[in-house]
Amino acid sequence: MHEPYYQDEAVTLYHGDCREILPALGAGSVDLVMTDPPFSIPVKYQDVSGDYPRSWGDLMVMEPFFQDVFAKIRRVVRNGGQTYICCDGDTYPVFYKASYPLWPQSHMIVWYKPSGRRGRGWLHSHETVLHLRTAETQYTGGFRQDVVGIMPVRTLNRQHPAEKPGDLWTFLSEGMPKPVYTVLDPFVGAGGLLDWARMRGHRAIGVEIEERYCEIAARRLSQAVLGEIAPAAEVTGPSEPLSLLDLEAS
Ligand SMILES: C[S@@+](CC[C@H](N)C(=O)[O-])C[C@H]1O[C@@H](n2cnc3c(N)ncnc32)[C@H](O)[C@@H]1O
Repeated sequence: MHEPYYQDEAVTLYHGDCREILPALGAGSVDLVMTDPPFSIPVKYQDVSGDYPRSWGDLMVMEPFFQDVFAKIRRVVRNGGQTYICCDGDTYPVFYKASYPLWPQSHMIVWYKPSGRRGRGWLHSHETVLHLRTAETQYTGGFRQDVVGIMPVRTLNRQHPAEKPGDLWTFLSEGMPKPVYTVLDPFVGAGGLLDWARMRGHRAIGVEIEERYCEIAARRLSQAVLGEIAPAAEVTGPSEPLSLLDLEAS
């Protein structure tokens, strides 16, 4: 059995490759998967001169890895659970194909980043989230719009270059039918999602392959336990996701 890198009453964090750790978790033991894999590698290679065409081969390097990881995620998430996997327009086709034989239903969600300022010609201001579910999946409340505007974490405040805002996790989990559940993040980064889950009374399991990020995540979680970081503002005052009407008016 793998020894946790960090553990408290709500969170278990493993240091290692999620392809090795996930098989040790119980089948159907997770209600919700929210995760942000390293999806921009290697397809962000750009031939600025235009001399070398992009090849499907480059993109497909990712396919066996994600087929393996998705199959392992599918085993641990219970039938009727919900899975959300961040990606972008380039990697969506690979993720979609890898998930297609495993989940009978899927949906694309768009995260609009009002402050997106990078890019050539077009400013990079959205990411996609692949939502995977089974016929048994239930949601609370009514219908939700599948485009949301949420500010990204400011560069200066990031502990990981790809850190995701807690408001994104709040939005994605809004349809969970149970008040308390077990969340899995197999690609933890700086541990923001584990902290987010624990502050809301959920159980969380995370895996991170790089020890320096395990350290950051463990420090963040221990500091929050000791009260050195006051998380209350984030819990009580998540910024309201922007509706499309707000965006049009701004
Ligand atoms: C896009 S980042 C996640 C950032 C995270 N959402 C945050 O808010 O900090 C992806 C993370 O997955 C980790 N990773 C990559 N391959 C992995 C693997 N096979 N198993 C576990 N973690 C892995 C990387 O080290 C990286 O920290």
